[in-house]
Amino acid sequence: MELSPSGFYEILSPRCTVLISTVDKEGRANAAPFSFVTPVSSNPPLVLLCAAPARHTLANVRETGDFVLNLVSEDILDKMWVCSKAFPRGVSEIDKSRLTERKSKQVKSPSIEECPGWIECTLEFEKEAGDHILVVGRVVHAECKDEFMVKTEFNVSRAKPAMHIRGKRFAIGERVVQAKAA
Ligand SMILES: Cc1cc2nc3c(=O)[nH]c(=O)nc-3n(C[C@H](O)[C@H](O)[C@H](O)COP(=O)(O)O)c2cc1C
Repeated sequence: MELSPSGFYEILSPRCTVLISTVDKEGRANAAPFSFVTPVSSNPPLVLLCAAPARHTLANVRETGDFVLNLVSEDILDKMWVCSKAFPRGVSEIDKSRLTERKSKQVKSPSIEECPGWIECTLEFEKEAGDHILVVGRVVHAECKDEFMVKTEFNVSRAKPAMHIRGKRFAIGERVVQAKAA
């Protein structure tokens, strides 16, 4: 089936989904789900998110220079959805969705307690690309709950990450298979 080129990303699916938490210059928290997110470099550690220009998330990152990627699991899917709604600037989606703020280790932006893991970032640079702004962040702290790390591997069967397909539909990543060695 041929797709409209503008909807190409729907077959780059499912996409890892995070709640991005930020603060504005008055310290008011904000959180929004993003799935246009990808690692860019491991040394230095850089991550990319793509924000539409009107996002409060983008305004806050520009004002205060940091943000946190909070991993989204099946457990908090409905609360994550509440965070996707357009609340006025300064209203905390973390409060509105009854999630819990957790103090971050290296950045001003809060983390979200209920998430399986947290990636704290400082703004490295931004660049316009089409109808989104590419925001590259430097990872200054990364952590996941002990129960989701088995030996040295992040255990998706336990963490059950919610991966975006489209609209309100998500795949839950819990089945693990291994490629045969050639
Ligand atoms: C699963 C999901 C993924 C999303 N991914 C993105 C994204 O990558 N970039 C973006 O700009 N908006 C994305 N959105 C839309 C924003 O989350 C939504 O517009 C939100 O209200 C923005 O909040 P803010 O203005 O507080 O930043 C996504 C929404 C959902 C539900």
